[in-house]
Amino acid sequence: MADSAVARNLLTDNPALYEARFPDPERLAARWTEDVLCRYGAGPRVLDIGCGTGRDAAHLRTTGRTVVGADVSDAMLAYARTHHPGPRYVRADLRRFHLEDLAPRPFDAVVCLDSALLYCHTNDDLDGFLDSCRRALAPGGLLVAEMRNGAFFLGRTELLDAPAIRGFEWEGTVYRSVTTLTVDRPAQLLRRRRVWTTEDGTPPVEQRSAWRLLFPQELRYALAAHGFTVLELHDGPGPRTEPAWRPGPAPSPVGLAGPDASPGGPAGPGPSPGGSADGDRLHLVARWGDG
Ligand SMILES: C[S@@+](CC[C@H](N)C(=O)[O-])C[C@H]1O[C@@H](n2cnc3c(N)ncnc32)[C@H](O)[C@@H]1O
Repeated sequence: MADSAVARNLLTDNPALYEARFPDPERLAARWTEDVLCRYGAGPRVLDIGCGTGRDAAHLRTTGRTVVGADVSDAMLAYARTHHPGPRYVRADLRRFHLEDLAPRPFDAVVCLDSALLYCHTNDDLDGFLDSCRRALAPGGLLVAEMRNGAFFLGRTELLDAPAIRGFEWEGTVYRSVTTLTVDRPAQLLRRRRVWTTEDGTPPVEQRSAWRLLFPQELRYALAAHGFTVLELHDGPGPRTEPAWRPGPAPSPVGLAGPDASPGGPAGPGPSPGGSADGDRLHLVARWGDG
């Protein structure tokens, strides 16, 4: 995403509005992440890249972790420092970042939540992200990501057929957003046009952005090419699925195997927990190294 695109983004320019529009009062995203980190025995040093308002980074810190939050939006970083203090917040571009700009020692985990990874629009962006993660991680470090699933859009048009209209009130003002999604097939992008209106007579604000339509198999391929072993790649339950992930006894990661695990051999790139990668969200856990 070009910096100018970030500057025109009403939500990243207004982080409080972002939290109001996408509330997570139970901190499910951060708790899901913490659950993954615990299940795979991750060490304490975590980078939350594309950290947004900092609410997940700050929650992870309350569990005793040392957390750095990084984002390309100065408005998000300023909000995070004020409203979700604790982590160190640094400006960085997830498409190419450098450990030395973020921390004195490698991280035990890089987390990238709510489709931030899909701002890697091109293969070069994705290579830059994975190469940066590998260089920022200690051997055996984890990459944990949660995002829209490109495969969901194969043969399904339910999110494309009609604009999604949402309204909500924030600080006495009623906001209305009309969101239209279109698929740019050659670029493999899900393009989003969102028009915001308010009742106070402010002219409408149009915001355009795009996510990479990343498919599970190409993600596995890119991860393997960068030396990562996929531990989980599935469509949920997760913090933004319906039904949502809930804290509780988790299946052991050892021996998890779903329909595409290799028969008779070591569990292949584990698809668990739900055993499928068909829904609209994708959850990734990968380890740098051979798992
Ligand atoms: C949908 S928000 C997700 C924020 C946060 N991870 C969460 O789950 O609430 C996407 C975030 O990615 C950030 N972002 C977009 N492009 C980026 C880039 N190239 N490098 C770093 N951050 C980026 C945006 O500024 C925004 O804060």
